[in-house]
Amino acid sequence: MELIEWSDKYLVGYDEIDNQHKGLVIMINELFTFMTEGKSKENLEIIFDHLTVYTKEHFSNEEKMMLKYDYPDYEQHKLEHVKFIERLNSFKSDFENNKITISLELLNFLKDWLLNHIVITDKKYMPLLEKNRYE
Ligand SMILES: [Fe+2]
Ligand SMILES: [Fe+2]
Repeated sequence: MELIEWSDKYLVGYDEIDNQHKGLVIMINELFTFMTEGKSKENLEIIFDHLTVYTKEHFSNEEKMMLKYDYPDYEQHKLEHVKFIERLNSFKSDFENNKITISLELLNFLKDWLLNHIVITDKKYMPLLEKNRYE
């Protein structure tokens, strides 16, 4: 069983971004699988680090695209990214200090944040992509 089942309702209609979103889903699912298989803390943290790096890359790609097309809600959107990265960084330091482990609660937080961000915040730039697609 997977934690997140990909659905076309998460598509924003821009292949590069959609593929990155799918990549993020795959990594969260991988963390879930590793957790249920009882993999070591080190293994889980390696995947979590990959997820953090990949998330930062994805956010930076999205931000460049929004800037390129003069997206009016850029600042607000970027703030959501910044806050999420802060959360990921604080989870990372909590792992390192043995304050938390990868739990279902943590994975559900990542899942809910990502899917909500895609369907509510990311989808708001869809008209912008549509408008610039053939230019
Ligand atoms: Fe975003
Ligand atoms: Fe996104």
